[in-house]
Amino acid sequence: MDGFELPVASSTPLLDVQPTSTFRGRHVLSVRELNRDDLSYVLRVAHQMRVVTGLVGSIDLAKGRLLANLFYEPSTRTSASFNAAMKRLGGDVVSINEVRYSSVSKGETLQDTIRTLESYVDVVVLRHHQVGAAAEAAAVARKPIINAGDGAGEHPTQALLDLFTIVEELGRCEGLTVTMLGDLRYGRTVHSLSRLLALYGVKLRLVSPPSLQMPESVLADLRARGAHWTVHEDLEEVIRSTDVLYVTRVQKERFEDQAAYEAVAGAYVISPETLTRAKERMIVMHPFPRVGEILPTVDADPRAAYFRQIEYGLFVRMAILAMVLGRA
Ligand code: NCD
Repeated sequence: MDGFELPVASSTPLLDVQPTSTFRGRHVLSVRELNRDDLSYVLRVAHQMRVVTGLVGSIDLAKGRLLANLFYEPSTRTSASFNAAMKRLGGDVVSINEVRYSSVSKGETLQDTIRTLESYVDVVVLRHHQVGAAAEAAAVARKPIINAGDGAGEHPTQALLDLFTIVEELGRCEGLTVTMLGDLRYGRTVHSLSRLLALYGVKLRLVSPPSLQMPESVLADLRARGAHWTVHEDLEEVIRSTDVLYVTRVQKERFEDQAAYEAVAGAYVISPETLTRAKERMIVMHPFPRVGEILPTVDADPRAAYFRQIEYGLFVRMAILAMVLGRA
């Protein structure tokens, strides 16, 4: 890899970011490790990936490099976007999406699986059902581990793409009112995103049923970061002042008790009627999959940003991979 400059005929490099990055060789486990400088860097590289991908489709920053996509939990967007991102960077991917067909089903430990895969590849993307699994993997790994979701813990690359979506769509993040709606207890995307947004002086509106409120461990981090938030059960209290409405799915797979899930499933449904009370310039986001929280009839509203958010995810994951694999 020769840093971020593209060998193009024109004298103007398509990527003009510095070839060095503190991300080189680094694990991406939690947003808690990231400061404002790191975030500006990710946003800047991701924006350039967006421009370059639009112009030439793919580049060869990761030529000859291999990524392992190791998923112990279902995924469509995260695994496919890391796969596409690595290939658009000229690299290739080894995918283990069905761990039940791997030696995991024979009882192999996560540590042994990681040490095996890292023998073949340059970077490992890991999704696991246990909180802290990515950190456990990183403790034995010699190659960078990227946390693609650890149970109800964190989902740092989703938070980065969510941040990128907000900045690309609304031009800034500082001072916005961001409403997080739904399952704030088990939803790892909001655990990561709220911590990131706390660095930007965002006003957070946390809307959920009482049983699905943001965990105290996340609130403690928000407090330490000087964040400003309010807690609600009724979306109507905050919809008019919202700049970003971040809707989440109730995380059925995290409930021990099916009746408790049934009691809160379908608690919120965003419809075109809901948005009649929202600002004209605001966006609706969702990490997806949606299972009824946003009606398909909302999709035609220009404020529905969730499909664009999916596309931004490609550029952010290209940026993260290029930075982690980058040469100083
Ligand atoms: C989310 C996840 O896996 O945490 N999906 C995703 O990565 N885009 C959200 C969810 O599953 O509800």
